[in-house]
Amino acid sequence: YPNSGIASKVVAIEIAQIIRSKQMLNKPCILGLSTGSTPKGVYKELVRIHKEEGLSFKNVIAFNLDEYYPMQPDSLHSYVRFMKEQLFNHVDILPDNCYIPDGTLSKERIASFCRDYESRIEMHGGIDFQLLGIGGNGHIGFNEPGSTSNSKTRLVALDHSTRAAASQEFNGLHNVPRTAITLGISAILHAKRVVLMALGEHKSRIVKASIEGLVTEYVPASYLQNHPHATFILDEASAAELT
Ligand code: F6R
Repeated sequence: YPNSGIASKVVAIEIAQIIRSKQMLNKPCILGLSTGSTPKGVYKELVRIHKEEGLSFKNVIAFNLDEYYPMQPDSLHSYVRFMKEQLFNHVDILPDNCYIPDGTLSKERIASFCRDYESRIEMHGGIDFQLLGIGGNGHIGFNEPGSTSNSKTRLVALDHSTRAAASQEFNGLHNVPRTAITLGISAILHAKRVVLMALGEHKSRIVKASIEGLVTEYVPASYLQNHPHATFILDEASAAELT
């Protein structure tokens, strides 16, 4: 797409259509959501569609991909706070239907929390639509290079490059958490529909590697080549290196 604004609208329209089609069937719509700078335009457009076109989120059950660990939900850097500010506080989604990995758990409780998170998704019939961004190193969620295709939801160590990319927001590398809880690659690949968005020239190298390179654990986004219904939504800058 020629620019990020149009790319974001295209994604928002697809999400709105899925929500509406599930409403017509009287069924919940399970959305897998991401944070970071990339999806902000999508959430803005969804809020607009809610306010101006009456799209209801009452049948939406949202599962976010990841959260830093440790992290308090009201912290400036929390993805709980991000989702409230960008989307949840502006639409009629039920607060009980908003799931985000819990950055406040004690270490001993993380493994069972992660198992429950995946079971809950399965209990609802799986993710209907998974929205992804991509890290400069090819991570999806916080599945860093080296993550296997069958990896489960778990506590992970963040790559140096991931922490460096976040260091400005955190006012210095030393403030960026070293770990995070992320949905595993396996659950992402089980989503019925996957849309990965990448915007900007700084993503062009990894977009090319993900789409045109080998499927490899060293570029986790390359696993999407094997997904039957995955699409990369790109602006011109991030698509610039594709042949
Ligand atoms: C965030 C997430 C990450 C980001 C990625 C790109 O929930 O899962 O994989 O999508 O780090 O971040 P931005 O969009 O800030 O470039």
